[in-house]
Amino acid sequence: MFTTPLRDGFELKLLEERHAPTAFAAVARERDRLREWLAWVDATHTEDDTLAFIRGALEQFSSSNGFAAGIWSGSRLAGTIGLHKIDWLNRRVEIGYWLAREFEGRGVMTDACRAVTTHCFRELGLHRVEIRCAAGNTRSAGVPKRLGFVLEATLREANLVNGMYHDLLIFAMLQGNWPR
Ligand SMILES: CC(C)(COP(=O)(O)OP(=O)(O)OC[C@H]1O[C@@H](n2cnc3c(N)ncnc32)[C@H](O)[C@@H]1OP(=O)(O)O)[C@@H](O)C(=O)NCCC(=O)NCCS
Repeated sequence: MFTTPLRDGFELKLLEERHAPTAFAAVARERDRLREWLAWVDATHTEDDTLAFIRGALEQFSSSNGFAAGIWSGSRLAGTIGLHKIDWLNRRVEIGYWLAREFEGRGVMTDACRAVTTHCFRELGLHRVEIRCAAGNTRSAGVPKRLGFVLEATLREANLVNGMYHDLLIFAMLQGNWPR
């Protein structure tokens, strides 16, 4: 119901319990591709796992600790974007995301990250937004780069996905550097 419009008819809308079947089906369809970079995919076996994730995210939202939103094109779920638990002591947060393959290559995630980063700085009053991704995940690294996030660090083998250790890149944007 409460949505944030993105370009080309896409919109952000909080994930609700009723979205669990759609969200699980989207992950299941793309399992082989998503598990390459997202550790939680292998722990998502059934619709109930997705439901538990959504319930957790809604609790997070109700306690001002982050959220998980769907990126919707009408009734089709293109992907999700969310905030990990907010570090209120340091006013810092990390954004996480994924997109179904058929929606890649159009700038949808860049647009969604722009909207979420603006929300973090303007609505939540956070000071620092991070995006972390494996060094080999060039598509993911392209999102913060396009938005002007600064690559600040490479944590060696800090990312264990699919049985492999990957170097982890940390990109960050500060409130004062975010274009108004
Ligand atoms: C990471 C992921 C979301 C990136 O998707 P994406 O489609 O590359 O990102 P965007 O939606 O921002 O689209 C950018 C692409 O669209 C193109 N594009 C077209 N129109 C555009 C526009 N108006 N604005 C920005 N980019 C545009 C860009 O050139 C870019 O394509 P390129 O990489 O071939 O140059 C997606 O690959 C994914 O879900 N991967 C699997 C899960 C994953 O890795 N998640 C992140 C874990 S850290």
